[in-house]
Amino acid sequence: MISNTINEILNEQINKEFYSGYLYLSMSAHLKELGLCGFASWTRLQAKEEVEHGLKIFDYIINRDSFVTLKQIRTPEFEFQGITSIFNRILEHEQCITRAVMEIAQKAEEESDRTTLNFIEWFIAEQNEEEEAVKNIIKRLELFGDDKVALYLMDKELSKRID
Ligand code: FEO
Repeated sequence: MISNTINEILNEQINKEFYSGYLYLSMSAHLKELGLCGFASWTRLQAKEEVEHGLKIFDYIINRDSFVTLKQIRTPEFEFQGITSIFNRILEHEQCITRAVMEIAQKAEEESDRTTLNFIEWFIAEQNEEEEAVKNIIKRLELFGDDKVALYLMDKELSKRID
C-alpha cells in the first residue's frame, strides 16, 4: 500500500493527465477547423496518449492496494491564436506536467517509496521526450511559419504519426 500523501498526489496526476487529453482534443478540433489536418491528427493522438498515461497511474494505484479517487476535469481552453501559439502553449503545459511528475518523484524519495520512484521514472523520461518533440515543432514553425508551402509540408509530415 502507498502512503496517503503519495496516493493523493498520484490521484491528482490522473486528473492532470486526463485534463491534458482534453486540452489536446480542444486544440485538435481547432486545428481541424483551420484545415491543418496533420496537426489536428498529431494533437488527437497526443490526447489518446495522455489518457493512457492517466490509466497507467490508475492501474498503479489499484495494484498497490490503494484508492483511486477521480476528480472533476476542468474545461480546457478553446480559443487559440494561431499555430505557433498553440505549440508554445503545449510546451508551457508539458513543462508544468514535468514539474508535477518531478514533485511525485521528490515525495516518493522523501518517503523512501522505491516502487513509486521506479514507476514514476518512466513518466520523467516520457516528459523529456514530449518536450523535445514539441520544441522541435516550435523551432520549425518559427523558421517557416509564414511560409504556406512549408506549413503544408509540415502538416503532411505530422499526419504520418501513427501512435
Ligand atoms: Fe502525460 Fe504530456 O503528460
